[in-house]
Amino acid sequence: MIVAANFKTNLTRYQTREYLSRLEAFIHDNNISQEVFIFPTATSIYSHAGKVNIGIQNAYPTKNGAFTGEIGTDQLDEFEIRTVLIGHSERRHVLGETQEFIANKYQFYKEHGYKIIYCIGEPLEVRKSGTSEMMSYLDSQLVGIDMHYENLILAYEPVWAIGTGVTPTNEDIVSLHSALRRTCTASILYGGSVKADNAKEILSLKNVDGILVGSGALDVDDFCSMINDAENIKLNKEINR
Ligand code: PGA
Repeated sequence: MIVAANFKTNLTRYQTREYLSRLEAFIHDNNISQEVFIFPTATSIYSHAGKVNIGIQNAYPTKNGAFTGEIGTDQLDEFEIRTVLIGHSERRHVLGETQEFIANKYQFYKEHGYKIIYCIGEPLEVRKSGTSEMMSYLDSQLVGIDMHYENLILAYEPVWAIGTGVTPTNEDIVSLHSALRRTCTASILYGGSVKADNAKEILSLKNVDGILVGSGALDVDDFCSMINDAENIKLNKEINR
């Protein structure tokens, strides 16, 4: 399974280093075999040789150039970062990234062979308008996205569940993930208010291959507990699939 932490605009470089060393120790001491990612702020990325994969929360589709405030593959290469989050709801809704721009970014990082965690999710008013409206909204977030890219990891994160403490019902998560499963063979993560106390239940659901966690992962002990849940659940799921 895949367990990923998105720090957003939290933790300093010093705090990230502390976090990472505790996380590595936990993974080592407990013989964890799950795939673990952290997405620190751009100022807190490291060249890192351990078990934890460090990804970038955002990067511009460029090698370098005149894009004030952005970073490109030259800066990522310096720290051997090979994983990028694309399409996160905060980039779509707070920072105004359009589907066209997101698809260009996806295409660029795909051409450069990066692992991409590609996020989709509907706002509350769309969910309230019914299943077919919701599915066509989610389809619109797949426009221009190669769903068969071998380094794709898909993350379903309903906007109304992010940072709110509210999650969809288990049935809703399963039905959505099952619909997405028909579109690709990529691993499908659930994200949105995953915490140490609900991770186990969510990770156990059919067609959930992992979790993308924001605020619930800021405490490294909580994140480790979710990794531990994933480790324990994986075997059961393989038997039941
Ligand atoms: P949250 O955020 O866990 O704080 O809801 C998840 C995300 O935005 O990836």
